[in-house]
Amino acid sequence: MPGGAARIPISPRELSVSNCENAHAMRRKLLFSVPAVAVLAVLAAAITHRPEIPGGRIVVHFTAGLSGVLDPCGCDPSERGGLARRLSVISDARAADASHVFVDAGDFIGIPTIEGFDRKDNPGFLSPNKRRFCEIKMDALMKGFGFLGIDAICPGEADFMLGQSFLREWGRSLPFVSSNVVYANSGNPVFRPYRVKVIGRGRFLGIPYGGVRVGIFALTFESAKLKHVKEDINDILSLPVITAAVGTIRELTGPEGCTVIICLFHGTRGQAEMLLSQVKDIDLLIVGHEWQPEDQKPQMGRTLIAGVPARGMAVGEASLKLSPSKTTAGGTVRLIPLDPSQKEHEAGLAILREFREKVRSASLEPDEQADAGGRFAGSGKCARCHEEESAQWSGTSHSRAYSALAARGQDADPECLQCHTTGYGLVGGFAKPSDSPLLAGVGCEVCHGPSAKHVEEKEKIEAEGRIKPPVRDAHRKRPLFKICTSCHTPQRDRFFERNSELRFKRIKHR
Ligand code: HEC
Ligand code: HEC
Ligand code: HEC
Ligand code: HEC
Repeated sequence: MPGGAARIPISPRELSVSNCENAHAMRRKLLFSVPAVAVLAVLAAAITHRPEIPGGRIVVHFTAGLSGVLDPCGCDPSERGGLARRLSVISDARAADASHVFVDAGDFIGIPTIEGFDRKDNPGFLSPNKRRFCEIKMDALMKGFGFLGIDAICPGEADFMLGQSFLREWGRSLPFVSSNVVYANSGNPVFRPYRVKVIGRGRFLGIPYGGVRVGIFALTFESAKLKHVKEDINDILSLPVITAAVGTIRELTGPEGCTVIICLFHGTRGQAEMLLSQVKDIDLLIVGHEWQPEDQKPQMGRTLIAGVPARGMAVGEASLKLSPSKTTAGGTVRLIPLDPSQKEHEAGLAILREFREKVRSASLEPDEQADAGGRFAGSGKCARCHEEESAQWSGTSHSRAYSALAARGQDADPECLQCHTTGYGLVGGFAKPSDSPLLAGVGCEVCHGPSAKHVEEKEKIEAEGRIKPPVRDAHRKRPLFKICTSCHTPQRDRFFERNSELRFKRIKHR
């Protein structure tokens, strides 16, 4: 399926998982549905002719810790990552090379904090509109996996934050695997324990034969807390990894006939090394948690270890060399950075467009608004009396911050609105695209506080000719510097702290 054609599956069910098979089912097919003559012919062919694995190696692309990030937001033009770039790298590799495996080692779901949707006293709380938003966003992420025909996904502890039903629904079409995540009450596995992908298989009389059987299994380190949402009836937990690994590897190297074993390990590098000190038969282990640059020491025993920076900023690539007996003989690991020079796949852009459209039509207003301490008037109300300040402000991009979102089709996205409008998430603040244009953009009241009362008082003074009555308002005379860094975070504006003096000068009115 991957390659040039950009058909985007519409619902989870519509995606189909191909080219991985269960060995038992295969053998049953061979025994019962094919005449014995053909079986013999196949065997003869398999003995005399082995299909070649291109380059004598298997290429594994992997992601981990995507944390719900779909796309670079555009705040910092040098930002890396994004679904469309990821799709382009991986789908090109899959189209060019049949010996290709693509896997994810967990924590693909991430729940952003959004002003107006979170409860300060209950950080894990998902308001109805925030849940809806996160589901729309994570559906887009999962579609990316589906488009690439991902071979296996190891759910991490964060991936249960939208509830088990979210994973169950997507599990109809995406290959979640885990050898050690079980339901607490029954001990039954939540996902299938492993997948087998056959690479470099030949065909004779239409019947597949030969090839390298690659077993992929997944472990979630037991101390990783599996997060729950209230509506999940059954608790889940993760069993000790060593026992689970030993049992699964026995199955893969035995009845399943796998000669290459890949482990998706949702734990840290240190926890992985603990596992590998006792379990030797893994060819490639992908570390899913807390990647550090110094983690890139690739080998332990015969096992190649690999990780990838979080938030989808790069794609990991491991190249496993195959020996003539089809087992692995070492390999190499590298990171492919998804910087702005990387091209974007049309299918990824289409998924993003669909995501933005869905967010727009869901019209998700903040549903946990906090008191603003006053009423907002809107920047347009100030100009009459503060001509100079207003003219200066109009010259800064603060005044145009909302149109920057509109230009990207994201002017209804709550995650963006919280920093690109005035009073978002506060009572009386900007809440939806049809709201007062006076509150669009980073207006006067972002820095000076809600000032409707100030306006009314001053108008009254004008009318009555009185001088300087006290003004009790949320209105601030001098904004605090910490207001700036609530939006100019290191992630959105890398050099703000370093250049703060210059930046401050730019917004001062005189
Ligand atoms: C935490 C606050 C924050 C959030 C959330 C945020 N932005 Fe920004 N955005 C900023 C800041 C601060 C800047 C200015 C950065 C600078 O000047 O270096 C900016 C700049 C931008 C720019 C550059 C505009 C230009 O004139 O070049 C774009 C585009 C943008 N943001 C889009 C988005 C989108 C789309 C989202 C949502 C996915 C988003 N932002 C979410 C804070 C935020
Ligand atoms: C009807 C005229 C009028 C309007 C409208 C008005 N102001 Fe003022 N504002 C004044 C006057 C007069 C002063 C000077 C008050 C003083 O010196 O006490 C002032 C002072 C200020 C100050 C300086 C600190 C202070 O409070 O003395 C800030 C900040 C300010 N205004 C912000 C705003 C903002 C923001 C708006 C729009 C939401 C606004 N003003 C609308 C008349 C107005
Ligand atoms: C990004 C934050 C920010 C925004 C947005 C902003 N201001 Fe200010 N404003 C400041 C700061 C900072 C000061 C104090 C200036 C100083 O330290 O000299 C100030 C001071 C003022 C004062 C006091 C007199 C002065 O000029 O020093 C007025 C009046 C004022 N602002 C009005 C406005 C109006 C009207 C708007 C919208 C058109 C606005 N401000 C938008 C940050 C902001
Ligand atoms: C509500 C969020 C928010 C707050 C608070 C905020 N900013 Fe910004 N700021 C933005 C966004 C968003 C942009 C980029 C707008 C765009 O380019 O579309 C921006 C842009 C800027 C720029 C570039 C302006 C230009 O025209 O080149 C400067 C400088 C800046 N901010 C300084 C500050 C300072 C200093 C403060 C605190 C006094 C502050 N900002 C507070 C969101 C915020």
